[in-house]
Amino acid sequence: MDIDSRDRPLGIAPGSVNDLREYARRRLPRQFFDYIDGGANEESTMRANAEELARVTLRQRVLRDVSARSTATRVLGEDFDLPLVLAPVGLAGAYRRRAEVQAFRAASAAGLPFCESTVSLCGLEEVAKALEAPGTKKRPLWFQLYVMRDRGYTADLLSRARAVGASVLVLTVDLAVVGARYRDERNGLSGKVPPLGMLKRGWDLASHIPWLFDVALGGRPLTFGNLEKAVPGASDPTAFKSWVDSQFDPSVTWEDLAWVRERWPGKILLKGILDPEDAREAAKRGVDGIVVSNHGGRQLDSAPATALALPPIAEAVGDRLEVLVDGGVRSGIDIAKYLALGAKACMIGRPWAWAVAAGGEKGVAKMLGLLKSELEVAMGLLGVNKISEIDGSALAGRGR
Ligand code: FNR
Repeated sequence: MDIDSRDRPLGIAPGSVNDLREYARRRLPRQFFDYIDGGANEESTMRANAEELARVTLRQRVLRDVSARSTATRVLGEDFDLPLVLAPVGLAGAYRRRAEVQAFRAASAAGLPFCESTVSLCGLEEVAKALEAPGTKKRPLWFQLYVMRDRGYTADLLSRARAVGASVLVLTVDLAVVGARYRDERNGLSGKVPPLGMLKRGWDLASHIPWLFDVALGGRPLTFGNLEKAVPGASDPTAFKSWVDSQFDPSVTWEDLAWVRERWPGKILLKGILDPEDAREAAKRGVDGIVVSNHGGRQLDSAPATALALPPIAEAVGDRLEVLVDGGVRSGIDIAKYLALGAKACMIGRPWAWAVAAGGEKGVAKMLGLLKSELEVAMGLLGVNKISEIDGSALAGRGR
């Protein structure tokens, strides 16, 4: 599936994930492009994610029969056509009309999971309904949860996720407090804005005409579907920010895992692990897996790049947990690198946010097609036919 010609600036077809980023940059109001693109403080961890991945080198092998390559794999008891998950990304419905629905459809068609964020615009029920049409390839949703101060509301979200058949709960644990995101401050996305700033923001929105018609006018309701009942006036970013500040609970500890476990009989993944000791603790507490993640460099600036954090964590937990990873995946080769460093699968955040902004469902389908064919090429040149064959022996540099 390719993206519509009207969505291609200058009529050029996207050849890479970074091309889709450029499409998104042209289409989105600055405040939303920056919200996706930016990280915490000086953005050094965000940059390090990409830089450390780029430093990993792979072992090219020749004269092996690689005619039967398959990117299929099995993670947490589910079959995947690619070792990849669309990571939870907040506010996606502000980038493209009903974007969470479009991304879920594209991910399911490509045979991989979509993880719905707590702070999505389309609520759980709307997204789950997207695949109810007869003949549609059905996949369970994954749901990402932040444990909030209002435990009654948190429990309610868990039962909503169960009711729509979500199979995996992704419990994000690296947001005890929200990282300092300078770009959002400058763009007035994270607080009160003086009148001149409001004018600037209004112009930023109104001058992006295709976005304006698609999202601001056609994408309604522009409210946070999972939080509507909790945040009165949740369509206003300022009201939302103050709710987030008051509700994200910095007092959550390992002990709260038992509370979640009582209310979630399915699989649980802890997202935001960067330290082998925490990974061992997670294994002891009986979760099913972890996501080695620094939140795409949006939380603790100077936290290690995930390409550096992953190997000691994978070694520490061995086969006791399924280890996933995210941060900086921009190509199929990057996926192969993370598998070689010890992950079972990767998550991608910004790539799908850019792709959905650029071309909706077709944009995400295009992006997933690019990653799959790049991974197939990488496998051919690594001399392997199966995902399970990509391990530490594929590393030419770091790790050998
Ligand atoms: C995120 N991320 C995120 N994580 C989460 O657990 N819940 C959320 O609501 C969000 N929201 C969010 C919004 C945006 C715009 C971005 C870019 C990221 C983090 C995300 O799940 C993932 O960890 C990173 O995006 C991975 O890094 P890359 O792939 O973006 O480099």
